[in-house]
Amino acid sequence: MRGEYAVIFLTWLLGISNCANVFDILDVKVAKKSQLISLKTLEVPAGVTLKLTNLQSGTVVEFDGVLTFGYQEWSGPLIKISGENISVVGKPGHLINCEGERWWDGLGSNGGKIKPKFFEMNLTDSTVTGLNVKNTPVHAFSIKNCSNVNVTNVKIDNSEGDVKGGHNTDGFDVNSHNVRISNCWVHNQDDCLAINMGSDVVFEDNVCIGGHGISIGSIGFRPNNTVNRIRVKHCEVINSTNGIRIKTKTHASGWVNDVTYEDVELKNVSGYGILIHGNYRNSGGNMEETPSPGVPITNLNISKVRGTVQPMGTNIYVVVANASNWNWDNIDISGGTVERNCQGVPPEVDTTCGK
Ligand SMILES: *[C@@H]1O[C@H](CO)[C@@H](O)[C@H](O)[C@H]1NC(C)=O
Ligand SMILES: *[C@@H]1O[C@H](CO)[C@@H](O)[C@H](O)[C@H]1NC(C)=O
Ligand SMILES: *[C@@H]1O[C@H](CO)[C@@H](O)[C@H](O)[C@H]1NC(C)=O
Ligand SMILES: *[C@@H]1O[C@H](CO)[C@@H](O)[C@H](O)[C@H]1NC(C)=O
Ligand SMILES: *[C@@H]1O[C@H](CO)[C@@H](O)[C@H](O)[C@H]1NC(C)=O
Ligand SMILES: *[C@@H]1O[C@H](CO)[C@@H](O)[C@H](O)[C@H]1NC(C)=O
Ligand SMILES: *[C@@H]1O[C@H](CO)[C@@H](O)[C@H](O)[C@H]1NC(C)=O
Ligand SMILES: *[C@@H]1O[C@H](CO)[C@@H](O)[C@H](O)[C@H]1NC(C)=O
Ligand SMILES: *[C@@H]1O[C@H](CO)[C@@H](O)[C@H](O)[C@H]1NC(C)=O
Repeated sequence: MRGEYAVIFLTWLLGISNCANVFDILDVKVAKKSQLISLKTLEVPAGVTLKLTNLQSGTVVEFDGVLTFGYQEWSGPLIKISGENISVVGKPGHLINCEGERWWDGLGSNGGKIKPKFFEMNLTDSTVTGLNVKNTPVHAFSIKNCSNVNVTNVKIDNSEGDVKGGHNTDGFDVNSHNVRISNCWVHNQDDCLAINMGSDVVFEDNVCIGGHGISIGSIGFRPNNTVNRIRVKHCEVINSTNGIRIKTKTHASGWVNDVTYEDVELKNVSGYGILIHGNYRNSGGNMEETPSPGVPITNLNISKVRGTVQPMGTNIYVVVANASNWNWDNIDISGGTVERNCQGVPPEVDTTCGK
């Protein structure tokens, strides 16, 4: 009996010493040896990445305080996390305040000040939950090379960017396999979700405000331009340029296959309720006249997508050159009055296009 108590006591002691509180960037190196890293209120120095890389399997990273960053023009990221079986948790009351307004100049990543990306994750079998993020300088979460990662209850509040020059403040950029993003809230000035490459991505129960909508693409700028098995379900898109969008680059090759958008509500979209185009040129959403066929869009199911577009917008617009097997039903988008000529819509789609 005595021995057992001793073991329990030792385990308890180890458990305690295995938690590292971080009050200074200099504490991080030692903290990485612990199973629980608790980030308290601290300022990360300018031009430095808060590097939580190659963490031990099973590590819990807690954000528990106000995290800020020094100012410098550089490309970031401000935070980088990598490892397997990692749990990243935002504690109630914490805030990651990037103070992006110091960089905002209306030009995003297209010019002006060099702006740091916010958060790069390279995780396997991991979860990221409860983060509360404010004013990212440019792109928020880069989900790169991840596999079996769930992101839940994350709030990205870049709403001040609407009036202070926020631009290219993408919510989630996904370049990964088997990622689930749910119950998140994003107010930004670019894509809420942008999937450039990857498979088995679920985007469910999210609210997107102010940005460019829930996007696949742009496709065609990377070595691997395959997107497969994407499920967008039960989301709201409010005050945004687009509702849902698939954009593929002209003269590129790749494949967008097996994509489902289901139960998406649009409110006050300014440009396009549904926009699917195979003529994406570069930044700024430019469209060339003619779409090209190198990135086929196949097995695209859209159902229960409903809501309103402003009169200056178009409810549904499709310009593609190689599309097949689209199953669209229960689409009810109204309000847009600008008419456009759709191209390449597969014959099985009986939804009115171009109005
Ligand atoms: C993952 O980490 C947790 C501790 O955070 C641990 O309890 C669990 O056994 C680990 N799972 C695997 C598969 O390593
Ligand atoms: C991603 O993490 C893995 C190990 O978890 C590592 O081998 C790889 O170099 C990391 N890649 C990047 C770009 O950080
Ligand atoms: C992510 O969520 C799915 C569905 O709830 C679950 O099956 C999976 O195990 C979760 N993955 C992780 C890493 O927690
Ligand atoms: C991607 O992650 C895997 C598994 O952690 C790792 O082996 C590989 O090096 C990573 N690749 C890159 C480009 O980071
Ligand atoms: C691209 O990735 C997919 C998995 O999504 C894979 O099946 C395919 O072989 C890859 N293509 C190239 C050219 O690497
Ligand atoms: C949408 O924009 C209007 C006008 O700016 C604003 O009153 C409303 O609160 C916005 N909706 C959301 C959910 O932010
Ligand atoms: C819709 O968005 C416009 C800006 O594009 C805004 O002026 C208007 O107040 C919004 N309407 C509602 C009902 O939110
Ligand atoms: C059109 O898409 C199909 C796959 O659906 C593909 O086999 C074909 O090569 C594509 N056509 C062109 C001209 O790229
Ligand atoms: C897409 O729609 C078709 C036709 O309704 C259906 O057979 C197929 O299972 C759907 N795919 C998904 C992934 O729901």
